[in-house]
Amino acid sequence: MPAKGATNPMVQALSPPGAQSTRAVSVQDVARTFHARGHAVPALAGMNLIAAPGEIVTVVGPSGCGKSTLLELICGLQVADAGTCDAMPAALMPQRDLLLPWASALDNAALPLRVHGLSAAEARRQAVPWFERVGLQGFERARPTELSGGMRQRVSFLRSLLAGKPVLALDEPFASLDALTRQEMQSWLEHVLASQARTVVLVTHDVEEAVVLGDRVIVMSARPGRAVADIAVGLARPRRRTDPEVVAIRERVLAALGAST
Ligand SMILES: Nc1ncnc2c1ncn2[C@@H]1O[C@H](COP(=O)(O)OP(=O)(O)OP(=O)(O)O)[C@@H](O)[C@H]1O
Ligand SMILES: [Mg+2]
Repeated sequence: MPAKGATNPMVQALSPPGAQSTRAVSVQDVARTFHARGHAVPALAGMNLIAAPGEIVTVVGPSGCGKSTLLELICGLQVADAGTCDAMPAALMPQRDLLLPWASALDNAALPLRVHGLSAAEARRQAVPWFERVGLQGFERARPTELSGGMRQRVSFLRSLLAGKPVLALDEPFASLDALTRQEMQSWLEHVLASQARTVVLVTHDVEEAVVLGDRVIVMSARPGRAVADIAVGLARPRRRTDPEVVAIRERVLAALGAST
């Protein structure tokens, strides 16, 4: 789904893609409170997150601590009540895949190209080669109900990728998958990102996934969420969950999570 950041004056544009910049995402001292049915729910307070261009930053934190809210702020889909949220244009892969049930997998993936004004035929032409790259060849015409969970996640990811934004905000992209498919998808994501210079902010509940995929892991507190730890991973890729270094960093992340709740 294309982000609306470019049209949201509250998301201040950082340098355009390709320009020299040390920050693709800069969230500083951000607060966001929701008001619903007479109640104020502070989702984020004093939240900080910096991502350099090309960096993969993973975010873990307890349920309800504002992770999805954070990604929506980065994508310009929400506005901060306080603090600053500066980001290069960002596309969101939402927590629920939001595929259009009546459209084919190809048309679902190509949606952002249509939104950018391409004809249906041209949008499909540009999206088709990706189906082979993500292992969905032969399923271009399938409706979402005809796809497995992992396939739907891939279509949803493709949609975010084809939005062509320098920043990808991925909200628990593999949450609904079994352990084996999840690991396959993690390897697949690493493979795709190796050939695509994107900055990624990836939210996950899976601490091992955060360490295996991230250049840095941000640990958030319970609501109102804020970053309580920023842990550099700094290990060669590909990484395995069982690597002793991965296990050691996982323990540090778990300790920070435990201390934050
Ligand atoms: N549109 C909204 N209106 C009212 N409250 C909201 C809205 N969006 C989020 N919230 C509240 O803000 C808090 C943070 O929600 P958010 O979805 O960002 O959490 P999360 O960390 O992504 O949780 P999870 O891990 O369960 O996905 C929650 O208490 C939620 O109820
Ligand atoms: Mg969420």
